[in-house]
Amino acid sequence: MKIAIMGAMPEEIEPLISKLSDVRVTEYAANKYYEGVYDGKDVVVAYSKIGKVFAALTATRLIEKFACDRLLFSGVAGAISDELQIGDLIIADGLCQHDLDITSFGHPHGFVPEGDVCIPTDINLRNIAKNVASKKGLKLKEGVIATGDQFVANSDRKEWIEDTFKADALEMEGASVAVVCTSLDIPFFILRAISDSADMDAGFDFDEFLESSAKISADFILSMVEEIEA
Ligand code: ADE
Repeated sequence: MKIAIMGAMPEEIEPLISKLSDVRVTEYAANKYYEGVYDGKDVVVAYSKIGKVFAALTATRLIEKFACDRLLFSGVAGAISDELQIGDLIIADGLCQHDLDITSFGHPHGFVPEGDVCIPTDINLRNIAKNVASKKGLKLKEGVIATGDQFVANSDRKEWIEDTFKADALEMEGASVAVVCTSLDIPFFILRAISDSADMDAGFDFDEFLESSAKISADFILSMVEEIEA
């Protein structure tokens, strides 16, 4: 078993690579991949850079070049649900692309032929996350995460995403990782800690809370790796 752990930004993987032993760094297609060991398990950690295209490239390489057979994503998100405050954790039960639009041809938002509007994550990995949360006494929300190549800092856009996809949080990579992992039949899991509320203060809040929320997410992911059967 080899576990891929992905983030989008350096801040999202730094708390992970600092905990690995026997680290070996490989560069491929302008990305660094950190192979190492955590809790006796082989892991490969990488950040993709922001957005769906970079995330799809990195997820594909983690699976096809590094032979990872499950993928955990760790990072930050903007909150949609009122239940989510800065630093709170959400796991995706499903992911959709809020900026995918061929509605001109009568299709629903987020849909292309032979695809699905919402892609489910692996139930076993979600259950491991719930066990970790209950052991640690942490609140863990489960819900739909909406992905798009936009930093959302606008209440109207956020409400539209909530109404259209019943989403609880939004970010810029999860659904593309979902497409790759589902297509290649790799169990995957998306965790996010809230950095902002996708409203007019989002840019400011993101800068303020990126590092602390990214660490909350990364620490949780490492606890999950400890629970995954080797
Ligand atoms: N990731 C964290 N906050 C975000 C936001 N407001 N929009 C898109 N991605 C995000």
